[in-house]
Amino acid sequence: MKKLEVKVALKIYDHITELEQSIQEIMKQATLQLDHSYAPYSNFYVGAAALLSNGKIHTGCNQENASYPLCMCAERVALYSAGSVDPKVNIESIAIIAKNPKKEIDRPISPCGACRQVILEFQNKQQSPIKIYLKADSPNIYEFESAKDLLPFSFDGSFL
Ligand code: THU
Repeated sequence: MKKLEVKVALKIYDHITELEQSIQEIMKQATLQLDHSYAPYSNFYVGAAALLSNGKIHTGCNQENASYPLCMCAERVALYSAGSVDPKVNIESIAIIAKNPKKEIDRPISPCGACRQVILEFQNKQQSPIKIYLKADSPNIYEFESAKDLLPFSFDGSFL
């Protein structure tokens, strides 16, 4: 028997002003997306903004449906926009921000498993890491250097 330990490193910033300008901008764009969120069922608002290597930003917010399984997360809306409009341009980073009007979220939001899998697919496709920035109501921000850090032991195309 062998025991394997997987460690995840992340940076925690106390405030958005500690981040470089381009990251502050995607955090801002992701926050603006909270107002576009269509979430009449959960009333939970999520905004995302992806920064491309050419400086372009693709945004997204969650889009819900009366048929619940059809709901789409903000991250995936932003990434699929980037993938369809700028398929050949690398994604450098993605900011994900959440707001729950019913209560304060005291720590950065964690993207769901499906979104982790999708971020990782984009990362594998472009063969360079996508940084992930997470924030909710508290001023602190989590930074992950790679989608792999959020989804170790992932399923990927190498199995197929
Ligand atoms: N949601 C996202 O948009 N991103 C996540 O990473 C977690 C959840 C959305 C889906 C649904 O519209 C609402 O938040 C509540 O789950």
